[in-house]
Amino acid sequence: MCRARRRRFDSTRASIVARAGVDSTPAGRRARARGCTLRVAIEPRPRWRARSAARASRVARSSARDAARAPQSRATTATTMPATTHATMRATSARATRARTTATATTARARATTTRVAGRRPTRCAVSASSDAAHAEASGAIDWHAMGFGLTTTAYMFKATCELGGEWVVEGVVPYGDLSLSPASAVLNYGQGVFEGMKAFRTSEGELLVFRPDENAKRCEEGAGRMSMPAVPRDLFRDAVLRTVSANAEYVPPVGMGSLYLRPLLIGTGAILGLGPAPSYTFLVYCSPVASYFKGGQLTPIDLTVEETYHRAAPGGSGSTKCIGNYSPVLKVQLEAKKRGFSDVMYLDAKENKYIEEVSSCNFFCVKGKTISTPSLQGTILPGITRKSICELAAARGFTVEERNVSIDEVMNADECFCTGTAVVVAPVGSVTYKGKTVKFCDGKVGPTSQAMYDELTGIQQGKLPDERGWNVKVPKFPISG
Ligand code: COI
Repeated sequence: MCRARRRRFDSTRASIVARAGVDSTPAGRRARARGCTLRVAIEPRPRWRARSAARASRVARSSARDAARAPQSRATTATTMPATTHATMRATSARATRARTTATATTARARATTTRVAGRRPTRCAVSASSDAAHAEASGAIDWHAMGFGLTTTAYMFKATCELGGEWVVEGVVPYGDLSLSPASAVLNYGQGVFEGMKAFRTSEGELLVFRPDENAKRCEEGAGRMSMPAVPRDLFRDAVLRTVSANAEYVPPVGMGSLYLRPLLIGTGAILGLGPAPSYTFLVYCSPVASYFKGGQLTPIDLTVEETYHRAAPGGSGSTKCIGNYSPVLKVQLEAKKRGFSDVMYLDAKENKYIEEVSSCNFFCVKGKTISTPSLQGTILPGITRKSICELAAARGFTVEERNVSIDEVMNADECFCTGTAVVVAPVGSVTYKGKTVKFCDGKVGPTSQAMYDELTGIQQGKLPDERGWNVKVPKFPISG
């Protein structure tokens, strides 16, 4: 009987899975060399596992920094989800334990870890073992009123790795820090990577809620497929996000003062020279407390200019994937627009240069009477989770919601326009400038529909309004120590 490597568990199928065929993993090659062609998985198991001691030392070799931080072995083996996940993760959170218990060793990073980028005032946060006490401590250290959308680093991030053809190996919650990457890593050379944006909120009852994490897990999975990367199993994605919030609970702003922005990131970290998928991958979730994305604060109307030369995406491209390469190309146009006094840029379709696509970082809606229209998802725009939520909320309020081609002429004649996105939330549009003509909406003030949509969405997210659709996921208090 061959001790072949079990690679994949399909939870929707029978508990006994037998698959024959070519296994291109090193284990598969070794098995074939021993004359074995049949791989048998005889029990349900997740497509990811906690990091075993043997695996730990192998993965640690790939990162000098990690090796330095995680010299101890972890006696943890694969487990079955979901029943034992938390227990197993407790065991595998030895790294997190060390992060807490060896706070003095990691003082520079974990105790006074906060740095701020993007021109914001630097603040520092203390980290203590009790999350409630620590929140109070952090509240005193962070100027929640001064926050915008700059990066405020936190104490912890989540990390898992995967070799091409292998299974995900979970390191769990680890101290936030830089990565060590080969100059030849696929993400640096070929941009093989996708990311997500999501948010956690504090309620007045002191709970922490994450908004629609399963939607992000699904989108990340689809993006991984488009970028030829191994998908992060949805249960692992969700678990990673909740653990990241729990570990960084003190950085979730007080009620109504912002949110903890979460950035799941899946990248090809393995080195490769010729064009092809990376030999290994890293999945991270890091986070930052944030407030308003645009200058002036939430609900300050933004002024948009319509771009006529450059396009964001073309049919058949990767515009609907939240991949790394989708964003840098907008910077050139955005920076020029900002110099001219605009808040951001609106893009038109690449084929006819006539229909709205999206704004650099968010989706677009326009309102005419009781009809709300937004560009349909035809592969060139981001399938925003806030966009989807607003469509549902607007329909429930009696609006006719149309997902279709929305022409720029229509926009110039709309009653009101607004943008949506995880980072942006709901941003009212004060004006749109196209071919030298500027149209102002709602006298440059917040329109009634934007206001209503903002109030309802944020009310649900912050637990102030009933969550009738079950969008919020409560963050358990995961023990940091093992
Ligand atoms: C988000 O809204 O979450 C995004 O990822 C957009 C980004 C450009 C800030």
